[in-house]
Amino acid sequence: MTTDSLPPTPAAPSGHEVGKREMLVARNVTMRFGGLVAVDDVDLTVHSGEIVGLIGPNGAGKTTFFNCLTGLYKPTSGEVRFADQLLPPKPRQVVVAGMARTFQNIRLFPNMTALENVMVGRYCRTSSMALTSILRGPKYRQEEAQTRERASELLEYVGMKGQGGHLARNLPYGDQRRLEIARALATDPKLLLLDEPTAGMNPQETRQAEELIFRIRDSGLAVVVIEHDMRFIFNLCDRVLCLVRGKTLVEGTAAQVQSDPRVIEAYIGSPDSEDGADDA
Ligand SMILES: Nc1ncnc2c1ncn2[C@@H]1O[C@H](COP(=O)(O)OP(=O)(O)OP(=O)(O)O)[C@@H](O)[C@H]1O
Ligand SMILES: [Mg+2]
Repeated sequence: MTTDSLPPTPAAPSGHEVGKREMLVARNVTMRFGGLVAVDDVDLTVHSGEIVGLIGPNGAGKTTFFNCLTGLYKPTSGEVRFADQLLPPKPRQVVVAGMARTFQNIRLFPNMTALENVMVGRYCRTSSMALTSILRGPKYRQEEAQTRERASELLEYVGMKGQGGHLARNLPYGDQRRLEIARALATDPKLLLLDEPTAGMNPQETRQAEELIFRIRDSGLAVVVIEHDMRFIFNLCDRVLCLVRGKTLVEGTAAQVQSDPRVIEAYIGSPDSEDGADDA
């Protein structure tokens, strides 16, 4: 696939945004589990057209922070705004608002085909789950055909052309991760959040994932990505936020964070993360 733009959708053609503006603004986000403060007063602003990296040793609170941003958790305190709206802690409303994510532990429908998995992502933008699907009238059939076509385009976009008929559970690990990205893109997000998108991938797959994320950014989306692979992060990201034990240790450009001795110490200084590449 050589195009830089996501395949246009029937509902809303994608286009490059002019200028940079704040998309996601998280302020003072704190998440406690009993006595444990997993995320401690963390701020993050993501602008349109940016790729932001979220790094930190195992257990630093990265996934918990994602869960707070995407409505899976209601933060103990703090707020999350997206496109100037206060987000309710409801995953479906967060998706409808324009944020989509993938999961550290892949969450596909294993017994559905790759194409069907992507179609499921699309249903939040159609009325097919409503009365039309019960009546199965012409509007339902038209929407179903559009959903199928769009899902097929997205599979091609992520490099999985011709694999739509395979059951998700039979796909190699790297393809399952790509499929999760296609499903997230099917919701027509403005902001994509990726939790360890290259975990378990070989170096060639990692390079392809990097190229895919650049293309997604170039199509007009903002991306936030959690990864332990530092080469991947510093090559990809405009800005990087490093969390340690739930708190912001450093935030800055990739170059600033890469050379910050506190970041190096957070990884190398921890006996549990000698190579910083644990993908638990
Ligand atoms: N649902 C939960 N209930 C209780 N504690 C939790 C829960 N989810 C996460 N934690 C704890 O919160 C802390 C942060 O976990 P989190 O999964 O966010 O870390 P992470 O930075 O994503 O780590 P990793 O790099 O290993 O994925 C850990 O101590 C974890 O055990
Ligand atoms: Mg995690």
